[in-house]
Amino acid sequence: MSDLRTIKITVLRYRPEEEDEPTEQTYEVEFRDDWVVLDALNHIKDHIDGTLSFRWSCRMGVCGSCGMMVNGEPKLTCAAMLRDYYPNEVRVEPLVNFPIVRDLVTDMTDFMDKLKAVKPWIIREEEKPVSEGEYLQTPDQLKDYKQFSQCINCMLCYAACPVYGLEHDFVGPAAIALGHRYNLDSRDEGNQQRQHIIASKEGIWECTYVGECSVVCPKHVDPAEAIQQTKVATTTNRLKSLVMPWGNKK
Ligand code: SF4
Ligand code: FES
Repeated sequence: MSDLRTIKITVLRYRPEEEDEPTEQTYEVEFRDDWVVLDALNHIKDHIDGTLSFRWSCRMGVCGSCGMMVNGEPKLTCAAMLRDYYPNEVRVEPLVNFPIVRDLVTDMTDFMDKLKAVKPWIIREEEKPVSEGEYLQTPDQLKDYKQFSQCINCMLCYAACPVYGLEHDFVGPAAIALGHRYNLDSRDEGNQQRQHIIASKEGIWECTYVGECSVVCPKHVDPAEAIQQTKVATTTNRLKSLVMPWGNKK
């Protein structure tokens, strides 16, 4: 007996040179038990309709480029098993809260700008010469930020965030979590340079702690927790700077 089953995949289509509004198109796909939604999209592109556009790269939950709405939920399509949806139809749409470029491809510019703005890299007030060796770190110091360093920039958290959906100026979950990751790093001295973005009115204080960002995050980064920790750290640092205006750089 064949292990192939057939599932209906309805995909949002948008070809800006042909149509003013998105439409939808349904395909019937024979799939094996180990297929994910991304396999179905690749099957459609290779064997049924080569005009379908979508992003992907690694097919193993690492590159973060295959995020789409699957039956209304932000998912990595390379991690969404078709068998979990069968025998029902699967609807695949581009990530919400981002402009559509074409079919399932969204414009990531806003997220990339926000990511850059929080300076997600190690900042030193003064770099020591390479000849003096690495900036050493203990396992406990690594543990402080490791969880927040697992982000793959998939933007699922932005698609899940109702605050970002309403207010696109909000810096948003992943960018704040990554800023926090570097603020927690014992080698970093860039907290002050990130604060005018992270602690601005478009930063942490916009978050109403809905927590959906953490629910959908495929890497368990827990951006909602990062935002809460940043609120506490920012408030503590402000109080410290009032009491001890000469210290408190980190
Ligand atoms: S925090 Fe999680 S959901 Fe958000 S971009 Fe990073 S990996 Fe994706
Ligand atoms: S294809 Fe890379 S995360 Fe899905």
